[in-house]
Amino acid sequence: MTASLDTIAARVRVCTQCELHRMRTNAVPGHGNPDAEVMFIGEGPGWHEDRQGLPFVGAAGQFLNEMLQSIGLSRDEVFITNIVKCRPPGNRDPLPDEIAACSAYLDAQIAAIKPKVIVTLGRFSMARWFPNERISRIHGQPRRFGDVVVVPMYHPAAALHQSSLRATIEADMAKLPQILEEARREAAAEDAPPPPQQMRLF
Ligand code: URA
Ligand code: SF4
Repeated sequence: MTASLDTIAARVRVCTQCELHRMRTNAVPGHGNPDAEVMFIGEGPGWHEDRQGLPFVGAAGQFLNEMLQSIGLSRDEVFITNIVKCRPPGNRDPLPDEIAACSAYLDAQIAAIKPKVIVTLGRFSMARWFPNERISRIHGQPRRFGDVVVVPMYHPAAALHQSSLRATIEADMAKLPQILEEARREAAAEDAPPPPQQMRLF
């Protein structure tokens, strides 16, 4: 049985599985459509996210919203979450044991939502599917893992103030509608009944 998103969120809010729970104001389980076709996975909550209990509500979030809007997606039709659900103090990088402790929640969210496409934002969520890869080499390139297509992208906070990265993430994001369309076609082909066998007489 898969847990519902609400059940997962309720567990995250009271979770004490790693040290990050000690410093949090609010855990940030994630936000969006339970039936989302596209899921975005960032790094971890920042100051604003910790205050509000919502993902990507600061400057990086504003930039993400603008990019989503530019490709005809709204925040409410996708699902947005992070690799760790509680804010690392001072916005330091999440530690390996914190990522490991939190990963079951992300597993459960993916199992509940069953997205067609996952966009990883930054290297920590990328590493879950592409360990040992470099983001500069593989950004924007979709790769299928079973039922889901994963597209690594730069982190919007890194891209926001660096014009070359900004152009890169915008170009990668612009490819997303086509990647989603292809993923939909592949999913529909999987679901379709096999074509009728033609009778062969000889
Ligand atoms: N950066 C992230 O990685 N996640 C957020 O939710 C906000 C900023
Ligand atoms: Fe639990 Fe994840 Fe928060 Fe750590 S970061 S306390 S594992 S919800």
